[in-house]
Amino acid sequence: MNKPIIVAITGASGSIYAVRLLEVLLAAGYDVHLTISESGRLVIEQELDINLDLDNFHQSNLLLGDGTDSSDSKLSMLRQTAGISSEDSNVLSVQIGSPGNIHYHHYKDYTAPIASGSFLTSGMVICPCSSGSLAGIVNSLSDNLIHRAAHVHLKEKRKLVVVPRETPLSSLQLDCMKRISDAGAIVLPACPGFYHDAKTIRDLIDFVVGRICDQFEIEHMLIRRWGS
Ligand SMILES: Cc1cc2nc3c(=O)[nH]c(=O)nc-3n(C[C@H](O)[C@H](O)[C@H](O)COP(=O)(O)O)c2cc1C
Repeated sequence: MNKPIIVAITGASGSIYAVRLLEVLLAAGYDVHLTISESGRLVIEQELDINLDLDNFHQSNLLLGDGTDSSDSKLSMLRQTAGISSEDSNVLSVQIGSPGNIHYHHYKDYTAPIASGSFLTSGMVICPCSSGSLAGIVNSLSDNLIHRAAHVHLKEKRKLVVVPRETPLSSLQLDCMKRISDAGAIVLPACPGFYHDAKTIRDLIDFVVGRICDQFEIEHMLIRRWGS
């Protein structure tokens, strides 16, 4: 049985990547420990038209394909534009038993299991990862549960994938990326490629999510692999 994966959503643009990632990880049978920063919540509201209550979180508000979002919401329109429908969650190349579950933790809850190295995981993904969170982790601030859990993954030498989204990049941000990479994290910028015959927004989203899943050796069909 797979150990859970931690997903943290912070306040960089690209919250749709996180929504798609959640859907794929659950479909792959992973339990996901999810936490969302306050700025992550704001960006989700701005980009997807979803008002999340971080003190009273309901996963049905965030997940793709559950049919609970209103048809004129930004998420719904983005799904349509991207070509992601409720029937379209068959993204795995191997048969998986039962889907995973989401365990939500408030980003200020240091009593959450993911704040401790004794809680075993398959790794952690920060998607999207703001420059603020990146700097906080690099400087070991442990200012919130996201920084703390990331720090735990670095100190325990477990997989930490950060998905920054910013352009252009200052030398300070580049320095943070180098430092977190030197500390063992994988820096996987939200930079979709176009060489795989991308035609829709969904192809671009799935490119980034597919490359994240590759880090966890999840067998997926999100992208057509070069040479296949
Ligand atoms: C709509 C919106 C989009 C943003 N996009 C980005 C972005 O792409 N990259 C980034 O580093 N910060 C971005 N920010 C700024 C961060 O949200 C801000 O620096 C925040 O303090 C990050 O906090 P967090 O790391 O705790 O989530 C954005 C903010 C808003 C409101």
